[in-house]
Amino acid sequence: MCGIFAYLNYRVPRTRKEIFETLIKGLQRLEYRGYDSAGVAIDGNNNEDKERFIKLVKKRGKVKALEEELYKQDGLDSKADFETHFGIAHTRWATHGVPSAINSHPQRSDKGNEFVVIHNGIITNYKDLRKFLESKGYEFESETDTETIPKLIKYMYDNRESEDTSFSALVERVIQQLEGAFALVFKSIHYPGEAVATRRGSPLLIGVRSKYKLSTEQIPVLYRTCNIENMKNMCNSRMKRLDSSTCLHAVGDKAVEFFFASDASAIIEHTNRVIFLEDDDIAAVTDGKLSIHRLERSASDDPSRVIQTLQMELQQIMKGNFSAFMQKEIFEQPESVVNTMRGRVNFENSTVLLGGLKDHLKEIRRCRRLIIIGCGTSYHAATRQVLEELTELPVMVELASDFLDRNTPVFRDDVCFFISQSGETADTLMALRYCKERRALTVGITNTVGSSISRETDCGVHINAGPEIGVASTKAYTSQFVSLVMFGLMMSEDRISLQKRRREIISGLKSLPEMIKEVLSLDEKIHDLALELYKQRSLLVMGRGYNYATCLEGALKIKEITYMHSEGILAGELKHGPLALIDKQMPVIMVIMKDPCFTKCQNALQQVTARQGRPIILCSKEDTESSKFAYKTIELPHTVDCLQGILSVIPLQLLSFHLAVLRGYDVDFPRNLAKSVTVE
Ligand code: F6R
Repeated sequence: MCGIFAYLNYRVPRTRKEIFETLIKGLQRLEYRGYDSAGVAIDGNNNEDKERFIKLVKKRGKVKALEEELYKQDGLDSKADFETHFGIAHTRWATHGVPSAINSHPQRSDKGNEFVVIHNGIITNYKDLRKFLESKGYEFESETDTETIPKLIKYMYDNRESEDTSFSALVERVIQQLEGAFALVFKSIHYPGEAVATRRGSPLLIGVRSKYKLSTEQIPVLYRTCNIENMKNMCNSRMKRLDSSTCLHAVGDKAVEFFFASDASAIIEHTNRVIFLEDDDIAAVTDGKLSIHRLERSASDDPSRVIQTLQMELQQIMKGNFSAFMQKEIFEQPESVVNTMRGRVNFENSTVLLGGLKDHLKEIRRCRRLIIIGCGTSYHAATRQVLEELTELPVMVELASDFLDRNTPVFRDDVCFFISQSGETADTLMALRYCKERRALTVGITNTVGSSISRETDCGVHINAGPEIGVASTKAYTSQFVSLVMFGLMMSEDRISLQKRRREIISGLKSLPEMIKEVLSLDEKIHDLALELYKQRSLLVMGRGYNYATCLEGALKIKEITYMHSEGILAGELKHGPLALIDKQMPVIMVIMKDPCFTKCQNALQQVTARQGRPIILCSKEDTESSKFAYKTIELPHTVDCLQGILSVIPLQLLSFHLAVLRGYDVDFPRNLAKSVTVE
């Protein structure tokens, strides 16, 4: 979805150029979240009154286009240092209104740019708000839902009863009126050098950097229970002043910098010290001091926000020698699966311990059924068959949107898993809240520390795949898959009848990294295959049993980055319809592995060749039977049946990558898509 980045330097002199570079770099790191258009708001370059004028630069297209526009408009030749400055920046993935400069953020309150705002999320009651504001004479210039926010804060400001009203008190009033999801950062000419940020349902974190010791490592949250009726009074009395011990600032000359971002990848090169905001937190920086307050106690009831040290390395979010993040992430899989298993699987004594679930294991074992919920790739990763086998429980696998559409019955003795790389996907998050309301135990399987899903679930597993930047998910898929297998193994630890099977799977997990390397070594062969296929309009991917998920996931990868039509077909359904598509021209990839479905897959193969189909077969190295009927084969190392899907998906990830490159598309920025889908 959209990416938010903001930077405030307090008593750390920075030139205009340095400030621009920081903002642009921040946006580049977040560009995978949206790349329709981008914009920044910075202080004016007028030395007499430089903080009383906000300059807005916005541009349709990628961040690069914005950067060029900035240089064109500003020149950036000013040598003037800004002792203190606050700049905000945004990269957009359009939801309301076409991609254009006017619809991009920051959105503003008026032509004088008195208040400017960047927003990630969606305001569902924007039509009512817009109507109200229009009735008060406010003129709208964009088609966005976001524009109601700067107009609303200006309305609050224009109608304040006291000159003393603080910036954060105004924001507090604004968010009382907003419905939907948001992460917001506000800047205003009325509050120079001050920043206010808040969130509800969309992620936001704050990085802190100072060469001095910070006065505190924990910021107590100031909250009061208050209803909307007394908001007006509150807004007009300055927020209760926080004494210095409740604010975060640097000790010494108090020089400090703050970075606000939608995710850690934009912050990590500046600092690894971050604070994750919770829903409805309002964070304000005034005179270089950060304070956090809220109207109500937080859901977690945590009375403070701790500064955490991020483990992420800058190198993890750089492309290195690869031409695209997606390619890099495909090739990282030998290490990412190891990171997923590290400290959890004991290969010596065949045990598995997932620390985040251990306290809930009894409850999970007693449950009525497991419901696994996700979207897209994360949905495909729900490896149902092995979970049914190892847990001996009924397992439902659900697409979050459909699960909600059906008002699926959920009971308090259900255990509901939410799989999400980003941990922020709106449909999955809403399904989580739906299940929580029904008092089911909720388990998160995410790749993003501090994400909404990881915080709102009762317990969970962090998949530790490392940051995934490519919009098309690859390494997160294999790590989600491994995480669920580990869960199944942990559940079956005391089942005597399953011990042999468990040992077999655990030894399969051990050799997985080497086998993934072997599959990756087929890259050149897969590139040659792509050369044959890249001009085709359609590509079918067929399989069954453990490898059906591979077909769905492979087809999704192909369609999302190559824009070819692709369909994952369950081989058992072939004769019930899809067979009509088969002829000499239609490219078909068949996944046929040496597993319990092997013979049935051979039947499907015969049906395809009998219609003069020319199957490209992904098969086991030792399979001489299938290759006899293949137009082409890609031979994979053989592993335990339930882990084979981890290996068989990789050639399809590589194939989609090569097809997209050959068709001339930007692999990391597929049209119309964004990495983290925080709207319904
Ligand atoms: C496809 C892809 C998407 C995501 C889906 C859910 O390559 O990445 O289908 O899997 O949008 O996202 P998360 O896992 O972040 O909930």
